[in-house]
Amino acid sequence: MEDYKPPALPFPFSNTTPPPTLLTQGAEAHLYKTTSLNPSIPAALKIRPSKPYRHPILDRRLTRSRITQEARCLAKLVREGVSVPALLALDWEGHGGEEGGWGGAWLMMEWIDGDVVRVVLEQWESWMKANQASLDAGQIECEEARVRGLLRKMGAAIGALHKAGVVHGDLTTSNLMLRPFADAGDSTDDSGSGSVDGDVVLIDFGLASQSTQDEDRAVDLYVLERAIASTHPRSEGFFEDLILGYRDSYKGAPSTLKRLEDVRLRGRKKSMLG
Ligand SMILES: Nc1ncnc2c1ncn2[C@@H]1O[C@H](COP(=O)(O)OP(=O)(O)OP(=O)(O)O)[C@@H](O)[C@H]1O
Ligand SMILES: [Mg+2]
Repeated sequence: MEDYKPPALPFPFSNTTPPPTLLTQGAEAHLYKTTSLNPSIPAALKIRPSKPYRHPILDRRLTRSRITQEARCLAKLVREGVSVPALLALDWEGHGGEEGGWGGAWLMMEWIDGDVVRVVLEQWESWMKANQASLDAGQIECEEARVRGLLRKMGAAIGALHKAGVVHGDLTTSNLMLRPFADAGDSTDDSGSGSVDGDVVLIDFGLASQSTQDEDRAVDLYVLERAIASTHPRSEGFFEDLILGYRDSYKGAPSTLKRLEDVRLRGRKKSMLG
């Protein structure tokens, strides 16, 4: 593969020392690790470059609305006590760049020092696969209980989000992170299959919207259920624990869960029709 060269960074990130490091590059956004104004505090920088193939006015409008939407969500959710990275800075106009008009937009947020849940579950699943033969029933149950606990926490975090009146719009295990507890150094939880201790943090609100409709909330859960079934087959059965965590997290949850059953039925019918 050809070496990928990300587009030039907007000012002021074009001359920070050390320069920001590129972590991931999705279809829409580039994620960098950098520092906040205080150089000893890490921060995550999400950049939405402008798309040269789009009409410049339309491009500006779309880029701007996605980034401000995401920033608004983060600001609101932090205020409501939902577990999301704090918003640190935002440029929706694309002021940076040599000629003052860089076109893209960026936001800077609190750095979450942990893995995405996708990585945590993958590590656990492959450890289980490699060690299964040497584990007795009690040990397997114990291992599964740890992962069930994680799924339950994920359910509670999503419940808190919905309670705040926001639906995520793109729930996958890559958009949930696990922040280890501060004193994780001497964790008793680590059994070789990786730690599942910590706080669940929701990220990536690029497709989020304000809604308190059961339908929208149920679709959020359904999307995550399908994502888990396809990427983490061994953990699929634990989705019921996520539901338990969700059910207890706010008053409207049972009614959303009822709706989830309709959404599942529709999904099944659709996949039967091909
Ligand atoms: N605050 C953060 N702290 C640490 N890592 C982060 C943070 N935000 C994102 N990441 C990492 O960067 C990856 C991509 O971020 P994010 O999911 O927000 O972007 P994306 O999926 O490319 O965006 P979009 O779907 O809006 O185009 C995450 O999966 C995670 O690994
Ligand atoms: Mg993402």
